[in-house]
Amino acid sequence: MMELTNGTYQIQGLNVLDICSEYGTPLYVYDAEKITKQIQSLKNAFSDSDLKIKYAAKALTNLSILKHIRQQGCGIDVVSLNEAKLALRAGFKPNEIMFTPSCVDFEEIVAGVEMGVHINLDNLSVLEKFGKKYKGDYSCCIRLNPHILAGGNYKISTGHGNSKFGISVFQMPEIIEIVNKYNININGLHIHTGSEISETDVYLKMSEILFGIARDFPSLKFIDFGSGFKVAYKSDDMVTNVYDLGLKLGKAFRDFYESYGRKLELWIEPGKYLVSEAGYLLVKTNVVKPTPSVNFVGVNSGLNHLIRPMMYDAYHEIINVSNPTGTQKVYTVVGNICETDTFGSDRKLNEVREGDVLVLKNAGAYGYSMASTFNSRLRPTEVMIKDGKAHLIRQRDTFEDLVRGQIEVD
Ligand SMILES: Cc1ncc(COP(=O)(O)O)c(C=O)c1O
Repeated sequence: MMELTNGTYQIQGLNVLDICSEYGTPLYVYDAEKITKQIQSLKNAFSDSDLKIKYAAKALTNLSILKHIRQQGCGIDVVSLNEAKLALRAGFKPNEIMFTPSCVDFEEIVAGVEMGVHINLDNLSVLEKFGKKYKGDYSCCIRLNPHILAGGNYKISTGHGNSKFGISVFQMPEIIEIVNKYNININGLHIHTGSEISETDVYLKMSEILFGIARDFPSLKFIDFGSGFKVAYKSDDMVTNVYDLGLKLGKAFRDFYESYGRKLELWIEPGKYLVSEAGYLLVKTNVVKPTPSVNFVGVNSGLNHLIRPMMYDAYHEIINVSNPTGTQKVYTVVGNICETDTFGSDRKLNEVREGDVLVLKNAGAYGYSMASTFNSRLRPTEVMIKDGKAHLIRQRDTFEDLVRGQIEVD
């Protein structure tokens, strides 16, 4: 984690400003040690269960990060064929990959079957097509919608009745009819209620729904409780107590499978929990712009690199790495994009001077993976700190990347 030691901000003992000098800004830096710690804490929390962690790749898909996560004994959850290909390239075996697409053409499901990955279906018509094509020859999991509203923001709440995700639990009769009609082999049940859920009770409520439904499916191998584990964005934030969750959900799960008659695997799919706090976006202050009403700091990044503050009203802590002892003043930190791209309003920062490096914290999850080339600006460099060393894991885009694939017609 980034710490202030002897007047300098460091990650694994490396001076953050030195990393910026070497690789330039804007720059994503990931602390692999923090990812390992998060994985370990989940393993400890669920030590009494047959836990399988399927990292939600969409949070951060850099191949070196995927490899690091695989080395820690995790599987992976993917939502597109390209994410599945990245997972294979990072060394995951097909049976370690869970493919949970949303509203895709059936051909994508067929391609997933050909890859040999686990298939998670969330639509009745797709289940029907799957049954017709594969009968009982290829198993699948069913993603259910429990009609529970939970999560930090409506846009990241996926388990409520108006969400496009999952097959409604009120459509169980239709599911069972299709499964029986084609003799489909259902190997798992899945619910992902949303992101940033701090209450253990939400998971317990979800588990009761799943356990009730599971009794109708005798050949299950696993139940997948999705994710949504909340990490701290501010020092006083409520977070998911994974130890409490592991204890209570683990016990409920064991009680369930004793009556089910067979031991099952307990799957989870953390994204943010593994990589959010491990990532930092380092940016340079281009301008300090006091106006009669606001003291702006304009940096060399924007919503093209980190869209969460603008899209989800997410709070990302900002620190002036270059001036740790400067007098605190209030600033509004904005990007260089021709849109309103405010990273943080009315933030107390140590005095910011033009050229200072600022860090945006919690940038590991849904940071680079949601980055774009909007305004024809280039996506940043990515660096991973592993074993006390900085490794370049993705080069900054170049102008050539912007024009690649374009066919110029005069
Ligand atoms: C199916 C599924 N699983 C897991 C996740 C990861 O959620 P989080 O990043 O909150 O852990 C998501 C996030 O969108 C998801 O859609």
